[in-house]
Amino acid sequence: MEERHSLEFLKVVEEAAIASARTMGRGERKGSDRVAVEAMRRVLDTLPIRGTIVIGEGERDEAPMLYIGEKLGVGKNGDGNYPEVDIAVDPLEGTNLCATGAPNAIAVLAASEKGGLLNAPDIYMEKIVVGQPCKGACDLDAPAATNLKAIAKRLDRDVEDLVVIVLDRPRHDKLVADIRSAGARIRLIGDGDLSAGISAAIRGTGVHAVMGIGGAPEGVLTAAALRCLDGEILARLVLTKPSDEERLKSMGIPDRKKIYRTGDLASGRDIIFAASGVTDGTLLKGVSFFGEGMRTHSVIMTARTRKVRFIDTIHVEEGGHLAVRV
Ligand code: FBP
Repeated sequence: MEERHSLEFLKVVEEAAIASARTMGRGERKGSDRVAVEAMRRVLDTLPIRGTIVIGEGERDEAPMLYIGEKLGVGKNGDGNYPEVDIAVDPLEGTNLCATGAPNAIAVLAASEKGGLLNAPDIYMEKIVVGQPCKGACDLDAPAATNLKAIAKRLDRDVEDLVVIVLDRPRHDKLVADIRSAGARIRLIGDGDLSAGISAAIRGTGVHAVMGIGGAPEGVLTAAALRCLDGEILARLVLTKPSDEERLKSMGIPDRKKIYRTGDLASGRDIIFAASGVTDGTLLKGVSFFGEGMRTHSVIMTARTRKVRFIDTIHVEEGGHLAVRV
């Protein structure tokens, strides 16, 4: 599945990135999200799969969404000639980032064989994300200082040398104070803990960990990326409304306190992770438009076949001239 479908999923994120990038800076986050969702749905529906959305985004903030349980692909009406594929999506991760033209907005999806991605509602999730050298070093219930010491030891550096990304939210006031008093450096971000998590698992980004509470869909998508990058996420669902408990039960998640590891959130044998930059970011450049086309920067990763491909694509509109520049 990984080799067969990678390029098809690349097209899905590229089209979502192009559609939302067109709206960059307009200050209309829902509009940016909507065009990304529509582009994803349109392209997903052309793929030779029997796809099901198992975790999507939109419920929590009542945004336009590819909804959980939605069937997509040429075989969506049950044609057994097409493989069953589970899909996790965030058509526009960082809607505010796109609406304000800030860095690190991306279009993202992950796919696996049936049952390979956690089917969970769009609620919050507490997370710690680290790269391969720090696998097994952290404990979600340990104080931040203990985890930072363990991370520093694995990375053979001092706690003072670490950079931790935290979403800038009042709910993180204590976490931020704890990280500060442990001595580590912090990068507070307005949005986008998914691309932050990927950065933590890639060497040379200058990011050593992501800590705090963000979205659960972003957590599952991060786990899919980490399966490919050999990093680690520790996570626990966070319930904020009485209806969250019911949603969990109805989705067959009895234990709300369960600590999930990377392989629990993204357990598939085959995992494809695809992301395309919308605005310029740490890992991916955003979409650039020129007279007769556009240029996208994407990453496609696969877990079993262990490939990480960075793809720079020039798209020429019909009748346009191909002008390739470095
Ligand atoms: P959107 O893509 O919906 O804009 O989400 C951005 C984001 O910052 C995620 O990266 C993060 O996981 C989540 O929102 C945090 O939620 P909240 O903004 O409610 O704190």
